[in-house]
Amino acid sequence: MAMKKKPDYEIAQLDVDRVRMGIARCLVQWDGDQLTGYTWVWLKKLAYIADGFYLNLPDDAIYNYKALTLPAYRGFGFQGLRHVKLLELLRPDGIRQLFGFVASENTRSFRGVRKSGYQVVGELLIRKTGQRVQTRLRLNADFWPGKPVLDDMGCPMV
Ligand SMILES: CC(C)(COP(=O)(O)OP(=O)(O)OC[C@H]1O[C@@H](n2cnc3c(N)ncnc32)[C@H](O)[C@@H]1OP(=O)(O)O)[C@@H](O)C(=O)NCCC(=O)NCCS
Repeated sequence: MAMKKKPDYEIAQLDVDRVRMGIARCLVQWDGDQLTGYTWVWLKKLAYIADGFYLNLPDDAIYNYKALTLPAYRGFGFQGLRHVKLLELLRPDGIRQLFGFVASENTRSFRGVRKSGYQVVGELLIRKTGQRVQTRLRLNADFWPGKPVLDDMGCPMV
């Protein structure tokens, strides 16, 4: 029996729910009527990095948390074009920089974000051993927000 192939561009239900809850938005990129890729942004200043780990972002930064370029379009800089467009669209909201988190083994993604102008601002190490979880975060001082993030009512979130 032939298995139905999943589309390359599958959108996770979790991300659809995040859009409904006002947590995320997606920028979709087209070449004519052909989808070339997409990029997701996290609308809250407290960015979900991994289960149990959130990072407080500077006011002028937005977390660009997931990206995909369809295989036929990879390697031509389509991701960089999406990043430029994102910054243009988000400028009226005071956004001047995109923040991304790339797993150390995802070399393509790392090369892709470096290619579109991202710079390394820190390093996160999560180590799980038996019953213990240890995290170590190193951030550049100029990327450190230096104050607690505020919720929608203007109260500090703890
Ligand atoms: C990571 C990804 C979004 C990059 O998108 P892109 O539009 O191809 O980005 P770029 O054109 O800037 O290329 C980035 C790197 O991909 C690699 N690449 C080049 N041609 C490629 C191809 N045909 N197929 C796959 N990767 C290729 C190269 O290392 C390239 O860097 P280089 O040009 O300096 O050698 C894309 O590879 C992808 O969708 N990967 C699967 C999903 C993923 O890992 N997403 C990121 C984490 S959420």
